Amino acid sequence: EADLESKMPLKGKKILITAGPTYEAIDPVRFISNHSSGKMGFDIANAAADLGAEVILISGPTHLKVQGSRIKLVPVVSAQQMYDACHQYFNNVDVAIAAAAVADYRPKNIADQKIKKTEANFTIALEKTKDILASLGEIKKNQFLIGFALETENEIEHAKQKIIKKNLDLIVLNSLQDEGAGFGKLTNKVTFIDKNFNIEPMALKSKEAVATDILNKIIAHYA
Ligand code: CTP
Ligand code: CA
Repeated sequence: EADLESKMPLKGKKILITAGPTYEAIDPVRFISNHSSGKMGFDIANAAADLGAEVILISGPTHLKVQGSRIKLVPVVSAQQMYDACHQYFNNVDVAIAAAAVADYRPKNIADQKIKKTEANFTIALEKTKDILASLGEIKKNQFLIGFALETENEIEHAKQKIIKKNLDLIVLNSLQDEGAGFGKLTNKVTFIDKNFNIEPMALKSKEAVATDILNKIIAHYA
């Protein structure tokens, strides 16, 4: 029994995970999005379930599948839908991990009909989407809140600012510097920064291994 316990260190924990891109509609047939595959979030979800956690995986459009009965997949399309789903579940979870690449802007107006190519030049007015992670940081009670940061300059400084702005316990800084890392790749090069600004650079490794590292941080938090 003690052995089973040691293999299931997240048993009894509920973990909310966001994953994938969001699609922000322009008209009935077009949208704005990004290259997120959803793999990092799905890898975290599968690893967390393997460690005994109950997972709510709120994901934008992706082709990935989840394994096992401990993961509840909540499919969403837009940033607003992801925001609503996160707020539906957040009060009831122990941990939330924001691995989604949420669109920062969306078209101010969605055309009812397909936009015709009548104009020589065409501009789409955009407005900011809600910052889902920051909104969770504002209402969090005991939840352990983990965010990601994607930066191309002043990485550490920008990531620290995100910890403060979004009231995070831990941030996973994604380095695009390395050719093997990032969107559409199987590997990531990350640096962990906790709320006390302890900095821990990790080696380039598979997204599965990064997922395990993140879950080990959660296990350590509850140990
Ligand atoms: N995030 C979110 N909702 C948004 C934007 C971002 O929940 N509308 C989350 C992401 O899932 C990630 C973290 O916030 O965990 C940081 O995302 P990132 O794009 O690096 O930062 P932003 O706050 O969007 O700032 P910027 O893109 O300007 O660097
Ligand atoms: Ca962003």
